[in-house]
Amino acid sequence: MFKINENYLKLPGSYLFSTIGKKVNAYAAAHPDKKVIRLGIGDVTQPLAPAIIEALHKAVDEMAAAETFRGYAPDLGYEFLRNAIAENDYRARGCNISADEIFISDGAKCDSGNIQEIFGQGNKIAVCDPVYPVYVDTNVMAGRTGVYDSAKETWSDVIYMPCTAENNFAPEIPKERPDIIYLCFPNNPTGSAITKPQLQEWVDYANKVGAVIIYDAAYEAYISEENVPHSIYECEGAGLCAIELRSFSKNAGFTGVRLGFTVIPKELKCGEVSLHSLWARRHGTKYNGAPYIVQRAGEAVYSPEGKRQLKQQIAYYMKNARYILEGLQSAGYTVSGGVNAPYIWLKAPGGMSSWEFFDDLLERANVVGTPGSGFGPSGETYFRLTAFGSYENTVEAVDRIRAL
Ligand code: MLT
Repeated sequence: MFKINENYLKLPGSYLFSTIGKKVNAYAAAHPDKKVIRLGIGDVTQPLAPAIIEALHKAVDEMAAAETFRGYAPDLGYEFLRNAIAENDYRARGCNISADEIFISDGAKCDSGNIQEIFGQGNKIAVCDPVYPVYVDTNVMAGRTGVYDSAKETWSDVIYMPCTAENNFAPEIPKERPDIIYLCFPNNPTGSAITKPQLQEWVDYANKVGAVIIYDAAYEAYISEENVPHSIYECEGAGLCAIELRSFSKNAGFTGVRLGFTVIPKELKCGEVSLHSLWARRHGTKYNGAPYIVQRAGEAVYSPEGKRQLKQQIAYYMKNARYILEGLQSAGYTVSGGVNAPYIWLKAPGGMSSWEFFDDLLERANVVGTPGSGFGPSGETYFRLTAFGSYENTVEAVDRIRAL
């Protein structure tokens, strides 16, 4: 008889955003007269920028002619895209990352879930609490997290680094030594950011104890403050200890198009083994690359027109963020985030739990958010709203909440 991967049976409940989706769909079906405004999952709503659409059309036409048709993409991704990334995202910021240290993929969610495959079973992971659930769940699937405590909602073999109002939602170096440290800044879900000296401390710590940092920078395009690093490679020594994940979903609206990349510097090694070569082996074996058409669309993100148009798109979402932040603050809510990130993190009022507030908001204001407890125990009594809605819906949602 075949056997299943029993680690999957340890996973409590379904994936957070699937659970929310089901709840909201059931509510909407039962109340067809209500206009439900969804500020839950961080999914974009603005159409793709004209420069990207133009690049997509052009690439589609190329696929229609034998001379310009493309089959399988190169393992690591097309050079035109990797060069554009290396130049614009790294060298322009003084980071010493070359095109052949960049692996193109179909998004940061997949990469953040898959990257743990190249690490041994016995590694101990450390995560922020609250945290994007993919990091933990994929380590559960790999059997790396020990036993689940349903009362505490924690895993015995995971080091949790609480991010609370007391520490300004920035994790502190844990007492127990981790092997793999997941960091995401600007942060999902709290919307907080850390300064370059703060990130440098993590890099120094990882290099000192021989840990690797998996740095999720999916929201870097939303940084508005000067002292906040866009890449971990802005820090001294990060090439020796850090893998960086990036996405085109949030900076360019590719949630439905799918494109991302992972950076693994060649100098990042475990003993004599370079992690770059392991990920290259994995990529080559299990992945056939993001579509040519999509990679051309990604290239357009870095064109002068693309850059200009996307700056406007980010500004549009950040105007929403400001409206939520200021609107809820003036209504007496305790609110943070929304300055360097498209997420606003608020305290549920009146001592409500995260899920109680979720139900209350859905029921009385017909507004969907994400319960903070879904991201980890320290998220309990918190709630996340995304700035990725349309401006009109954002204004209406905030006004409805204020009127409760
Ligand atoms: C979120 O809402 O946290 C994100 O949209 C999820 C994701 O990017 O996969």
